[in-house]
Amino acid sequence: MREELLQPEESIDEVERSVDASLRPRTLEEFIGQRELKEHLSIILEAARRRSQAVDHVLFAGPPGLGKTSLASIIAAEMGVAIHVTSGPAIERAGDLAAMLSQLGEGDVLFIDEVHRLPRVVEEVLYPAMEDFQIDIVLGKGPAARSIRLDLPRFTLVGATTRTGSITGPLRDRFGLVARLDYYEPAELEAIASRAARILGVQVDAAGAREIARRSRGTPRIANRLLRRVRDFAEVRGDGTVDLATASAGLALFGVDERGLDKVDRAILSAICERFGGGPVGLSTLAISVGEQTETVEDVYEPFLIQCGLLMRTPRGRVATPAAWAHLGLVAPPSAADAPPPGLFG
Ligand SMILES: Nc1ncnc2c1ncn2[C@@H]1O[C@H](COP(=O)(O)OP(=O)(O)OP(=O)(O)O)[C@@H](O)[C@H]1O
Ligand SMILES: [Mg+2]
Repeated sequence: MREELLQPEESIDEVERSVDASLRPRTLEEFIGQRELKEHLSIILEAARRRSQAVDHVLFAGPPGLGKTSLASIIAAEMGVAIHVTSGPAIERAGDLAAMLSQLGEGDVLFIDEVHRLPRVVEEVLYPAMEDFQIDIVLGKGPAARSIRLDLPRFTLVGATTRTGSITGPLRDRFGLVARLDYYEPAELEAIASRAARILGVQVDAAGAREIARRSRGTPRIANRLLRRVRDFAEVRGDGTVDLATASAGLALFGVDERGLDKVDRAILSAICERFGGGPVGLSTLAISVGEQTETVEDVYEPFLIQCGLLMRTPRGRVATPAAWAHLGLVAPPSAADAPPPGLFG
């Protein structure tokens, strides 16, 4: 199923992962966009280098595909240290974390993806590890149990999360830098798509790259993915060169519309407009009606729709904006959000 490849995050298969890895920028210099964040990071790295110390703990927050994992490996590469990769849900018990920590070398980076999903008991072991580079390990059970203190090398914890709201205060406070990644500007995405084209050996002209960039939902991973889909299209239907015409036709064929919305984005908007009178509709009801997980709707789809001004979060639920009705080619009721519940007057 081709269309599955266009889902922003969920169905990343093995091929996708390896292409992701081959396109990943390796140095801060190669990393395009996020200017302010890059500046903060380069200062922190330089300061640590001058003091010959480990970099302060860093938390990267932002929607999927914006470069959090890439930045974690860049920190390790720039500092010339090893990176150890794990994720919140993979660390089930305090002992799992202790085992990981005991393998770290001086200055190494421990990257915990989805750090908001760390179990609470594990998080509590992490606090003293981050702060004092020590952990207490309990040996044995019952009255014979005793605890020993283990010194750890100075390491750098790099955390990544798609939801800052779910990070507990105490954990968040222990990061020296909390950096938010924003959606990319079209010009930056154009540079990212052109860079990927060079690496993958795809012939793409400026107008073709611009069109892909414009429809990439502000997301580098999607720009790279659309580039590959359009290349397939250009090879099968044309001479392999990606120009404006092949990019537009290819993107349309794969269900990416003029604003870069995909099938699920449009399903969300049309559910709100056509089934729930424009909203407000609760998140879980909305998610069920489009057949997605609530978290996926909230973390992957909504942030972009909100950023585009197509969707609003209100205390009573999600509401489609007039621009959403227009985008779907529908006529909005006079005041969709305040309409009385059906049946009230008859
Ligand atoms: N600033 C950038 N410049 C060039 N390419 C980038 C940039 N940011 C991301 N990419 C590309 O996008 C892909 C996805 O980035 P990455 O895996 O770092 O995102 P992520 O934020 O960790 O996503 P997730 O939340 O899904 O883990 C990378 O493989 C890389 O090719
Ligand atoms: Mg990642």
